[in-house]
Amino acid sequence: MDGVTVINHPLVQHKLTIMRKKETSTAGFRRLLREISTLLCYEVTRDLELAMERIETPLVEIEAPLLEGKKLVFASILRAGNGLLEGMLDLVPSARVAHIGVYRDHETLEAIEYYFKAPEDVSNRLIIVVDPMLATGNSSIASIEKLKERGARNIRFLCLLAAPEGIRNFQAAHPDVPIYTASIDSHLNEQGYIVPGLGDAGDRMYGTK
Ligand code: URA
Repeated sequence: MDGVTVINHPLVQHKLTIMRKKETSTAGFRRLLREISTLLCYEVTRDLELAMERIETPLVEIEAPLLEGKKLVFASILRAGNGLLEGMLDLVPSARVAHIGVYRDHETLEAIEYYFKAPEDVSNRLIIVVDPMLATGNSSIASIEKLKERGARNIRFLCLLAAPEGIRNFQAAHPDVPIYTASIDSHLNEQGYIVPGLGDAGDRMYGTK
């Protein structure tokens, strides 16, 4: 599917299957989420630009590659996005972090922002927006609208599972934002759950069911 990268590394797929199992405990789910988010982060940053810098090893001077440009921003869509943050920060500890809380008003369909905290200068940074589930796409679409209003131009979206309906809505709203996911599942059910899915990601990671 155009604009969507499915990360089908065997370790990702193995961990995802265990996360889907209904008998996986909260502690297990959280540990797997941290592990899998490190692997997903590795893939979503695979093409970052490098610049050569002159360094000294204990033996000689060489030109060696380092990440170029400003620090990345990981933008977590509250609350389940936070489950992806820790593993990503294990891999990129210098990344800046944004938190975004939005909901869609049922009557006006307007995206209502109830929380937004991001670094000042989002316009010159790569922003990786994270939310485990791309279901209807409403919250990710609204969150990215808010980031764009503040000047963000270079955005990627990373999730664990995506529904085809959510991908369609998302791409209609933000055709410039590539999607990275570990799986495209079958469909959304009437309650807005991804099928086969893994249930409510926030409840499973925080034990709040
Ligand atoms: N959010 C979830 O946590 N799970 C779903 O299946 C859909 C949205």
